[in-house]
Amino acid sequence: PRGTLVDTLTRPLRDLRISVTDRCNFRCVYCMPRAVFDKDYPFLPHSALLTFEEIERLARLFVAHGVDKVRLTGGEPLLRKDIERLIERLAALTTPDGRPLDLTLTTNGSLLARKARSLKDAGLSRVTVSLDALDDTLFKRMNDAQYTAGAVLDGIEAAQAAGLAPIKVNMVVKRGTNDGEIVPMARRFKGSGIVLRFIEYMDVGTSNGWNMAEVLPSAEVIARIAEHFPLVPLEAHTPSETAQRWGYADGGGEIGVISSVTRAFCGTCTRARLSTEGKLYLCLFASAGHDLRALVRGGATDAEIATAIARIWHARDDRYSQLRGSADAASTGKGRIEMSYIGG
Ligand code: GTP
Ligand code: 5AD
Ligand code: SF4
Ligand code: SF4
Repeated sequence: PRGTLVDTLTRPLRDLRISVTDRCNFRCVYCMPRAVFDKDYPFLPHSALLTFEEIERLARLFVAHGVDKVRLTGGEPLLRKDIERLIERLAALTTPDGRPLDLTLTTNGSLLARKARSLKDAGLSRVTVSLDALDDTLFKRMNDAQYTAGAVLDGIEAAQAAGLAPIKVNMVVKRGTNDGEIVPMARRFKGSGIVLRFIEYMDVGTSNGWNMAEVLPSAEVIARIAEHFPLVPLEAHTPSETAQRWGYADGGGEIGVISSVTRAFCGTCTRARLSTEGKLYLCLFASAGHDLRALVRGGATDAEIATAIARIWHARDDRYSQLRGSADAASTGKGRIEMSYIGG
């Protein structure tokens, strides 16, 4: 029954985040710096990618183990050819007690204006769109690929029109780069029904040149917004929520802050991550994954794969954000996977 599979810290397996491509049309400075992700970068060959049949099969087994929330990520998931066909398959899955999945996707929004309708028709529940600035000079400085904020806003509007709600917008804050956009972004989305969330710049991967001086603590984000628009704290929707919620005192909706650096949330982390090539990662900051593709392509039965997933989750002890800075974390820091490989 649901909820019996827990890891060594008694955290259940509830969310599956599936990366469908390691490629992206953006080169965000905190994720895929151009100097590293250049034309010689060894992206995965097509044969390495899990097929839609393989993803569906694995997702079904995770759902049988208690997963009821599935998020497609990348890279940029809308670059995966015929992604709607995968969404149709996943939308047809139900939990053991017969409920539909919360099926969502994280996108940079550049292709959303074109795809929102077909994504909705395929059965997607909602979307989360990344947008780091409204000012085009700043936005281009963040995405390093000449995309304008207007293109992303058009995508958000199309998603709203298609009913992919509730829409969330994620803004990664880098102190000294786009922190001047915090208040303008808050103003732009206040009262729109869209939930804007500010993410602390994280030390994911090994190529973004992360340093603590560029992290703007969420407490400061909240203080800056509250100077203009009074805020009140809200209760979490679920125990494993990544964001802390704040409401506008005047009823203009809510915002969130995701504070992996200053207020780690590993204690309630119920997230498993499946890479584009079928490796199961137990943490965003992991260095190694568990090769489920080898099982799938090696002829394992459903029961054998389900048992393997249970065994892997049962042994899980990851809590990187809580250990960050300690000797323990430093020793596991080498060779960490990149955000573009595993998705948020
Ligand atoms: P909702 O269900 O819509 O609230 O989504 P979510 O918060 O689970 O997912 P989303 O992809 O919107 O997450 C937002 C960002 O939070 C991600 O892009 C990551 O930057 C960060 N994040 C999500 N999960 C984790 C996690 O397990 N650990 C850490 N350190 N950061 C995470
Ligand atoms: N720190 C914080 N957030 C990041 N993202 C990507 N890299 C980082 C990082 N180093 C965010 C993106 C997007 C989601 C997939 O993860 O902006 O919202
Ligand atoms: Fe692409 Fe998202 Fe990474 Fe930016 S954060 S480079 S949009 S995968
Ligand atoms: Fe989960 Fe790892 Fe993030 Fe902690 S750092 S919340 S264990 S993914």
